Amino acid sequence: MWLLIIAFIIIQFFRPEKNISAAPPVNHISVKFSVPDDVKQILSASCYDCHSNNTRYPWYFSVQPVAWWLADHISEGKKHLNFDEYSSYNLRRQYHKFEQIIEMIKEDEMPLSPYLVGHPGAALSIEQKDKIIFWSNGCMDEMKAAYPADSLLKK
Ligand code: HEC
Repeated sequence: MWLLIIAFIIIQFFRPEKNISAAPPVNHISVKFSVPDDVKQILSASCYDCHSNNTRYPWYFSVQPVAWWLADHISEGKKHLNFDEYSSYNLRRQYHKFEQIIEMIKEDEMPLSPYLVGHPGAALSIEQKDKIIFWSNGCMDEMKAAYPADSLLKK
């Protein structure tokens, strides 16, 4: 038992680095796509903690090993999709990420379920899901109108 307590105290000194950036998001998704305020609000409340360069940290981020677990979600989430970097993606990736956003929302895979335990307000209502899906489809339509199909689809 003592060993466990000592181990718990020791690991408190190994904190993961926080996902916080003061740099202006010059490649934010809104640089290339119009993001209406209501959509921006939903993304900000439900997605940005893992899919942007700035996470709003809960108090339990100060406790290990919880922080490691959260940091892992954040770095994995950013690797797959980062709204702050979206405009720097190549066309295919931009297009494909909209497809995936729709898929994830339809299948209720995002926001990740453990996240909702600490952030019940981040759960999406049916109206909010519809808004994100409608908006994503609109962005894909814009892309289809602006670029030839073979520059958007994976070969
Ligand atoms: C708690 C962190 C977290 C939150 C909040 C979150 N995601 Fe994710 N997301 C992840 C992680 C981790 C992955 C990568 C692993 C996976 O696919 O499960 C991911 C992957 C994705 C992917 C890419 C899937 C792929 O196959 O590459 C999309 C699209 C996505 N999320 C959309 C969203 C949207 C939209 C929201 C908000 C409604 C959201 N996520 C909220 C953590 C999160």
